Amino acid sequence: MKFFVDTAEVDQIRELAELGMVDGVTTNPSLIMKSGRDIKEVTAEICGIVDGPVSAETVALDADGMIAEGRELTKIAPNITVKVPLTWAGLKACKVLSGEGHMVNVTLCFSANQALLAAKAGATFISPFVGRLDDINLDGMDLIADIRTVYDNYDFKTQILAASIRSANHMSQAALIGADVATAPPSVIKKMAEHPLTDKGLAAFLADWEKTGQKIL
Ligand code: G3P
Repeated sequence: MKFFVDTAEVDQIRELAELGMVDGVTTNPSLIMKSGRDIKEVTAEICGIVDGPVSAETVALDADGMIAEGRELTKIAPNITVKVPLTWAGLKACKVLSGEGHMVNVTLCFSANQALLAAKAGATFISPFVGRLDDINLDGMDLIADIRTVYDNYDFKTQILAASIRSANHMSQAALIGADVATAPPSVIKKMAEHPLTDKGLAAFLADWEKTGQKIL
């Protein structure tokens, strides 16, 4: 499973990229707002750090507006992925932009039917929002599994990009189901390294080492 980082904070992206943990980046208007940066400037900086796909989201509501914004965003760098919402207008924009050879990420997906439409419209990535379904007492991972089944049934090449990931458990569940990509905040990616038995085992080893009186350096 590829890891995308869901943030526009360049220092955090750089730290994870140095460890080889970043296959791409996703941003959205809320993350740009949180960064306090200009969208083109911060996106260009991210594209300088990460070679993989970097999603930058359009904000127009009509297809022509999304297409124009998408074309403008793709001028930032060759690895820009244009992110459009899963509306009828977004699907039209997806069809046109993917037809021009641009990578397109169709976002705000909450059903298998929506994912099917995005694949038909030529999406490179579909972004089902796991955490926001959990928020309304549904199981977001069921949607990842349903889309996996639908795409595999018909050999669609659109990649499932599990989004709105809130926990390390979401990451392992997405990987077990076979999501192609998961995008998560840096804190969630770091949390994946944690296990109480690792901490307990390390404390026991260090206590025994103290008793030996030895030093390695
Ligand atoms: O990947 C989409 C993400 O930014 C939304 O996450 O936690 O706001 O639902 P969240």
